[in-house]
Amino acid sequence: MGKLEADSLELEPKLIAIRRQLHQHPELSNEEFETTAAIRQWLEEAGIRIAKYPLPTGLIAELGSTETGGPVIALRADIDALPIQEETGLPFASVQEGKMHACGHDFHTASLLGAAFLLKQREAELKGKVRLIFQPAEEKATGAQQVLRSGALDGVHAVFGLHNKPDLPVGTVGIKSGALMAAADGFKIEVDGVGTHAAVPDAGIDPIVTAAHIVTALQSIVSRNVSPLDSAVVSVTQIHSGSSWNVIPDKAVMDGTLRTFDERVRKRVRERFAQVIDGVASALDTTARLHWIQGPPPVLNDPLLAGLGKQAAEAAGLEVVEPVPSSAGEDFAFYQQQVPGLFVFIGTSGTQEWHHPGFTLDEQALPYSARFLAQLALDALESEAIIRTGETAVV
Ligand code: NI
Repeated sequence: MGKLEADSLELEPKLIAIRRQLHQHPELSNEEFETTAAIRQWLEEAGIRIAKYPLPTGLIAELGSTETGGPVIALRADIDALPIQEETGLPFASVQEGKMHACGHDFHTASLLGAAFLLKQREAELKGKVRLIFQPAEEKATGAQQVLRSGALDGVHAVFGLHNKPDLPVGTVGIKSGALMAAADGFKIEVDGVGTHAAVPDAGIDPIVTAAHIVTALQSIVSRNVSPLDSAVVSVTQIHSGSSWNVIPDKAVMDGTLRTFDERVRKRVRERFAQVIDGVASALDTTARLHWIQGPPPVLNDPLLAGLGKQAAEAAGLEVVEPVPSSAGEDFAFYQQQVPGLFVFIGTSGTQEWHHPGFTLDEQALPYSARFLAQLALDALESEAIIRTGETAVV
């Protein structure tokens, strides 16, 4: 057993205690004040310096120095919870009504703290600077942009992040080059109608019939306009219209989401959305408006960093597996638009998928994720390709 592995196992009880405290006191996006205070305290107790960036919630800390000319590596964890009522029955279940760490961001926070403690023990050996990003508001997909606006990614040569993965066993890590998670856009469609008696439809314009045709026609985009070798998801998830059985209403409103793994496909689908909605509404003698809610881009992993990640995983005693990409979104992708980045899935042997009220994970994964992040930082600081910044390939 290597020294890093032994040190991570020694930390396991502390990391479990940290994760349970966070789990019991979840806070929603942009409300992570107590979570931030707790992280600050754990870092300060370990003698890790807090960096000054203007973030109302969330926190940046640093280890090492660039005085020797070494690079800056960023490790990122998200810290927010979800508006879900927990149903796990765990002794450390959420005490906040209707709030739950149902995506395991408590695990991510504890993992990054674990990596910080391991790197603190090795601070004198660091060949550059490690910046620790405890990011708020991932669930609203706005936190990464807050961190970017704060300047905390300035000067960073490479950024690394992870997400727990319930369907991968503890001890494994899913690492892949290229697309790992989807661009997650939202849309709202307003269909105009003219209200009338349900028995006299010719005196008005029925927005419900138009909305139904639009839903059906939108499904043709994935099947007819996206290559079979690419992929996309179009889901209409809400339709609101009408309030009586015998009245044709004067409008219908629909919401939904688009998921894509490629910017080219994303652009094409969006163009077709506008054409299909206008065309169907026009054919049915009415108008409709599309409101696009631009979400995070796809998570696109740098090939060179994916290779570095695989080496670090093996050195840290994790088994590397090929992950199946997820059509969920992740605002880590905004960082990857700025600097080369790698996002990985850590196996947690969970029983439920992300965002489920019964979501759980196996805490034995904590020392694995902590030492993987620490090893990754140590290796990245010594990577010639990262040091020669600008030469790393961004996919
Ligand atoms: Ni998540």
